[in-house]
Amino acid sequence: MKQLIIEGGHELSGTIRISGAKNCAVALIPAAILANEKVTLCNVPNITDIDVLVSILEEMGVTVDRATGSLVIDPTTLTNTNIRPELSDKMRASYYFLGALLGKFKHSEMDFPGGCSIGKRPINLHLMGFEALGATVTNEGDKYVINSEYLHGADIEFNIASVGATINIMLAACLADGITHINNAAKEPEIVAVAEMLNKMGAKITGQGTSVITIEGVQELHGCNVEVIPDRIEAGTYAVAGALCGNMLKIDNIVKDHLGAFVEKLDEIGVFYDLGDDYIYLSKGENYKAVDVKTEVYPGFVTDLQQVFNVLLTQCEGVSHVNETIYENRFMHVPYLNKLGANITVDGRIATITGPTKLKGTEVVATDLRAGAAMVLAGLVADGTTVINNAEHVLRGYEVIVEKLTNVGAHIEIKEVENK
Ligand code: EPU
Repeated sequence: MKQLIIEGGHELSGTIRISGAKNCAVALIPAAILANEKVTLCNVPNITDIDVLVSILEEMGVTVDRATGSLVIDPTTLTNTNIRPELSDKMRASYYFLGALLGKFKHSEMDFPGGCSIGKRPINLHLMGFEALGATVTNEGDKYVINSEYLHGADIEFNIASVGATINIMLAACLADGITHINNAAKEPEIVAVAEMLNKMGAKITGQGTSVITIEGVQELHGCNVEVIPDRIEAGTYAVAGALCGNMLKIDNIVKDHLGAFVEKLDEIGVFYDLGDDYIYLSKGENYKAVDVKTEVYPGFVTDLQQVFNVLLTQCEGVSHVNETIYENRFMHVPYLNKLGANITVDGRIATITGPTKLKGTEVVATDLRAGAAMVLAGLVADGTTVINNAEHVLRGYEVIVEKLTNVGAHIEIKEVENK
């Protein structure tokens, strides 16, 4: 087991450069297999979720050249479409191979994907979309087997604007015959990035970033060179660190427009910041005010920042309510924040945070990726030493987090220890 050990109370100043977005890169990599030539991806974060996807590609026979920050993927050497459950179980985004393989070979199969345990996270909308495109979906044990003799365009309506289902249908539909409309499509920046990559490969996709996406099927897709967009969740996480412990902490390489609802909440709380198109400076302020937060699909307040934001709310005067509308079970960090000294109660999907409370270092657990990030932030602001067990979760999504925080003045180290 990996442990993160943080001595809290140190001021953060200097610059943290934001890496390529995990939730974008994990979709662009499976998308690459749709091409009939090499695809080059730049600004790929060095995180363990990417290691898993590279292993899946390599087991498929795809040649992958990995250098610092870049991946050159040659799908022409693909010989095998099997994905071992041990790999698909390691992350949620393995499900993008279902859409990409279906688009390319009219057949895909995989066990139910893994990922953070933050709710049931069914994939019924993905499967419904594949069926609308002319595929049949059967279950063999835990495995989904998807086949199509003739993949064709369809009018698809989602009852939830799902990120994963929107991307998976784009992947499957761009080599289908005819025109597909995705109604109530998700609008996240990652969706736009995937559509733009597919268009660079020769796909005909319009409407990305709006709630109706149109995909006109083409015969084949060619190679391309694409840069992964900056990670808005990593940016938000370090921005909260700045609001908690910063002294003109600069978060660089951000996209201002991707952080809209998050920055509005910083304003409401009374955080001092200076926001430019691609950077934000933050300093720790005083007299922060409690606010209510409701997670929503983009461009609303993103669920992936809910847990780290709670740490900031523990330092605000008054009572904050946090309504988690996307996942049923995204408050697993709360008992550990309380162990650190917070005053939070949870009733269903609403957490009530009363502050400010002084946090004091102790031993806690990273129950999932963003819960782990919340523990890191709590450790930075707490008095004394915080030990975070199961830190592997954090490394799935935050590139060189120890180095990035150390460079701006944090006292943080990572250790390998025997499992308890
Ligand atoms: N949903 C269904 N049926 C489906 C698909 C989704 O009911 O077929 C439900 C989910 O259970 C959830 C909601 O719809 O309650 C939203 O799910 P969505 O499909 O949008 O999420 P996802 O594709 O599984 C991605 C990110 C998540 C992020 C969400 C929302 C990746 C690999 N994961 O998940 O990221 O929270 O979109 O923005 O891109 C994270 O990075 O920590 C993370 C969990």
